[in-house]
Amino acid sequence: MDRLMRDVGKPINMLLLYNAPLAKATDRLGMHKMFTCIETMRNMAAEIRAEHESTFTDGSPRDFVDVYIAAQKAAKNGFFVGPFGDLNLENVIVDLLIAGSETTSTSLSWCMLYMAKYQEVQEKIQEEIRRAVGSTRLPEWKDRTELPYTEFVLLEIQRMSCIAPLAAAHCTTKDTELAGFFVPKNTTVFVNLHAVTTSKDCFEEPDVFRPDRFLENGKFVNDSNVVIFGLGKRRCLGETLARMELFLFFAGIVQRFSIRSAPGETYDVQAAEGFTLVPKPFKVLFVPR
Ligand code: HEM
Repeated sequence: MDRLMRDVGKPINMLLLYNAPLAKATDRLGMHKMFTCIETMRNMAAEIRAEHESTFTDGSPRDFVDVYIAAQKAAKNGFFVGPFGDLNLENVIVDLLIAGSETTSTSLSWCMLYMAKYQEVQEKIQEEIRRAVGSTRLPEWKDRTELPYTEFVLLEIQRMSCIAPLAAAHCTTKDTELAGFFVPKNTTVFVNLHAVTTSKDCFEEPDVFRPDRFLENGKFVNDSNVVIFGLGKRRCLGETLARMELFLFFAGIVQRFSIRSAPGETYDVQAAEGFTLVPKPFKVLFVPR
């Protein structure tokens, strides 16, 4: 998945994305592995579907795939039915795998990098968790109201790293006018989320890591300009899940370990090239607490 995201982000591959036959040809010539990666995931999705089908029990859905299969069985016609319905399910599984795994793990990598770089911030989080949760159990989702600093450090890391800077590609369905510009029908459109999360109009000193920027009259207040999940009807479908996963993993790791810099490491918050903004390779030490 890491390789796929790095490959897709290369300028040449971004262009090839919109010329599938050419992209497939260059793939076959071994110039990159974009389609090979997607093909591997397709095969995995086909196995997941087949495995679910062979163990499916009506009325006892185990997960999303079972719910989809139940809908297929109930449908007489439409998108769920026949080989098209099967292919649709496999594509949805691939979509969820691509959109759901690398994004969350990359965000968590950024968290580790920022914690190694900003030790004083990490200590404040550890103190907040010690007071609100203690050390005998892991932080839970319901604890987050008692852990505002932890949540806003997470938000500030996400603002600065903005891992999906251009969101997903969209397309105009009709001739459109936007802010005085004419955009013809069928134009591919990218929204620059990164420009918002690093804008001087939206954030004071946007290049400075400062979780306290969300503090207003002693209270932490959310900022709608942190548009890391996109906006509108097609904003991230997994936002709620992602927020939960990140909070639980981040708070749990920082509670149980101190993240210290590894000898000789300096931590660069500039991302490596890719479709998602991933940190450059780095090492940290996890010291049990
Ligand atoms: C920190 C984690 C994540 C970030 C920052 C993130 C960010 C985004 C962004 C920026 C978009 C594009 C929105 C747009 O084009 O307007 C998107 C779309 C999407 N995301 Fe996420 N995402 C994350 C995690 C997840 C997870 C965990 C899942 C699912 C399990 C997921 C599923 C999706 C899907 C299916 C779409 C396409 C939605 C559509 O086209 O209607 N994402 N995400």
